[in-house]
Order: sequence, then structure tokens, then C-alpha cells
Amino acid sequence: MLLKNKLGITDSIKLAKVEEKITKLKAKQLFEKGKLNSFEVGTFKGLSEIHKALFEDIYDFAGKIRTENISKSNFRFASAMYLKEALKQIDKMPQSNFEEIIDKYIEMNIAHPFREGNGRSTRIWLDMILKKEIGKVVDWSKVNKEDYLLAMERSPIKNTEIKLLLNKALTDKVNDREVYMKGIDASYNYEGYSVYKTEDLK
Ligand SMILES: Nc1ncnc2c1ncn2[C@@H]1O[C@H](COP(=O)(O)OP(=O)(O)O)[C@@H](O)[C@H]1O
Ligand SMILES: [Mg+2]
Repeated sequence: MLLKNKLGITDSIKLAKVEEKITKLKAKQLFEKGKLNSFEVGTFKGLSEIHKALFEDIYDFAGKIRTENISKSNFRFASAMYLKEALKQIDKMPQSNFEEIIDKYIEMNIAHPFREGNGRSTRIWLDMILKKEIGKVVDWSKVNKEDYLLAMERSPIKNTEIKLLLNKALTDKVNDREVYMKGIDASYNYEGYSVYKTEDLK
């Protein structure tokens, strides 16, 4: 399924490639210009600023809460109808230690506030919280992608696997661009979303 985009691209493979290139470039700029440090840490507002910065040249919905219901591998992310309320609750979640931060990350992933690009923007968001609160970030080059995806799929039910995986990959190299950029690989993701209408569930 092809997402409507600002680039006039009509082929989904082409779009994925161009999207990956642009978002990497934007992420690099965010980091180098220090703009990332001006964003709010640990709130939806901060996350939407990250998403907007990465995707504003590609999608109209950059930084905006989705209005569709979406699912992946049979997991339904937060219903669009309750998304705003869910995000308000997540904003209030504590983030003073590793456990709390990952709990918050898992909840934000369940919310999946954007139509596309949640993985990349939320991983940057996570790193900004870890950096501020515990002086560490995830070295994503140490996180096996399949293990990560399996652990994320499992995280709404059981969070120990993702906690173990990310804890092992923590580093205090918080200002290392290479470490930061590794989290932005779009290939942390192997499939698109299914969109469903609420009536489909009845
Ligand atoms: N079945 C699933 N259940 C829960 N989380 C998932 C599932 N599949 C993928 N994820 C999470 O969602 C992310 C992909 O979201 P997506 O919006 O496609 O972002 P991106 O386009 O940046 O990869 C993955 O990196 C992972 O963190
Ligand atoms: Mg994607």
C-alpha cells in the first residue's frame, strides 16, 4: 500500500528508499545543528518535533497524530479514537531510571502516534530520555535487529526481553554521532501496516 507523499512518488519500493535517505540526512542535521537538544524530553510534544523534523519534506502528516487505526503482525496499536488521551497519560509517566524509561518507551510504541515512521522517531526520543536522565544512550549497533523486533512485538505482553536487550547495549558515548545514527535505520522494520476501520472489528 502506497502512502500519499509530497514527492509525487507512486512506487512503494522507491518511496521506502527515498524516505530512508531523506530521514537519515535530516537526522544527521538534527544532531549536528544541536537542534535535538532544544526539543522537550519525554513528552509527545518532543516526539512530534522529532517526527516533524525527519518527515516534513515527505508527508503531510509529519508531526501529526494519526487518524487511522493501524496494526502490524496482528497487533493493533492504540485506537485513533483514544490516542490523544493515551498520549496525555504517557507524558505523565515517570522517567527517573532505566526501568521507568523503557516502560514509557513501550507505552509510546503501543500508542504508535504516527501513520508511519514511529520506529525511527521513537528510538531517537528514547535516546534523548536516557541521555538526560541516566547519562547513557543505546548503542544500536549492538542491538540485533531481529531480536529487537521480536522483543518489541512481545513488549506489550512481557517487557523483560526488550529491557535485557537494550540494557546490554547501553553506552555512555552520548555524543557520538555514529552511535546515534544507528538507531535510525529504517530496516528495523520488515513490513508495512494494515489499516482497519473500527467496523471491521465487530
Ligand atoms: N507487531 C509489533 N508490535 C509492537 N511493536 C512493533 C511491532 N512491529 C514493529 N514494532 C515497532 O514499531 C517500529 C516500526 O514502526 P514504523 O512506524 O514502521 O516506523 P519506521 O518506519 O520508522 O520503521 C519497529 O521498529 C518496532 O519498534
Ligand atoms: Mg515504517
